[in-house]
Amino acid sequence: MTTQPFHDRDGWVWMDGEFVPQRDAKVHLLTHALHYASCVFEGERAYGGVIYKSREHSERLHHSARVLGFQIPYGPEELDGIKHELIRKMGFEDAYVRAVAWRGSEQLGVSAKSNTVHCAVATWQWGDYFADKMKGIRLMVAPWRRPAPDTAPCNSKAAGLYMICTLSKHAAEDAGFNDALMFDWRGQIAEATGANIFFVRDGALHTPKPDCFLDGITRRSVIALAEKRGIEVIERAIFPNELATFSEAFLTGTAAEVTPIREIAGMAFKPANITEQLLHDYSALARRKNA
Ligand SMILES: Cc1ncc(COP(=O)(O)O)c(C=O)c1O
Repeated sequence: MTTQPFHDRDGWVWMDGEFVPQRDAKVHLLTHALHYASCVFEGERAYGGVIYKSREHSERLHHSARVLGFQIPYGPEELDGIKHELIRKMGFEDAYVRAVAWRGSEQLGVSAKSNTVHCAVATWQWGDYFADKMKGIRLMVAPWRRPAPDTAPCNSKAAGLYMICTLSKHAAEDAGFNDALMFDWRGQIAEATGANIFFVRDGALHTPKPDCFLDGITRRSVIALAEKRGIEVIERAIFPNELATFSEAFLTGTAAEVTPIREIAGMAFKPANITEQLLHDYSALARRKNA
């Protein structure tokens, strides 16, 4: 992983219909997205040069944009081709892929209906989000809650929704934790700042219903993998006072993959069989090694 800032790296990005050198991939200061968060994005991962669930990510990007009231001028199939062409052009095998779409700089006010819509894809080489996985990570409880569906467009992967994630992640890091567990507006357990959460009790998986946060692509893959193993999966409202009743806990996400949790706000969890099984199953699936 390079530590060179993104604006000063060699290589290419795809932007508004063409490949441009990464150093030249710029937007204007008065871009609506920068001021009003009229922006949606995807985080994807390529393994061995192939993006896991590329089409689902492209379709979710389109869905996210529609929720914010704009249409991306490149279809999901076209985006799939662009993403893979970019990875090939960069010579990457295992990489993170960031697709993004946003409103441009024609109008700068709350209303932006006539602004042009822009789209770009960037990629960089990337290893584990949380290194040394089975050791488990530590979460604190976030100081911010996921908003209600009538408070924010929570079924869109919209940039604006990440303001409270960044604040919560910073608070966790400042307190010596790896990440933060966010509750929702009702006080139910929701997810981490960039990943969904699962718990284990008596051999069954419990995970919050994604009714006010992202129903992750990895989350859905892990549910399918668990069911294939005959593990019962219960999607339901989970309350903080239940935390002590769970034996294992883990996060799922494109970046996190399956990441075991060893502590939530002083409560200990022991990454064990079910977590390890699903970690390996997901890794094999994403890397297409399970055939
Ligand atoms: C807030 C949030 N929740 C959950 C996820 C997991 O989603 P996925 O598995 O589609 O990457 C992500 C990552 O995209 C996220 O940012």
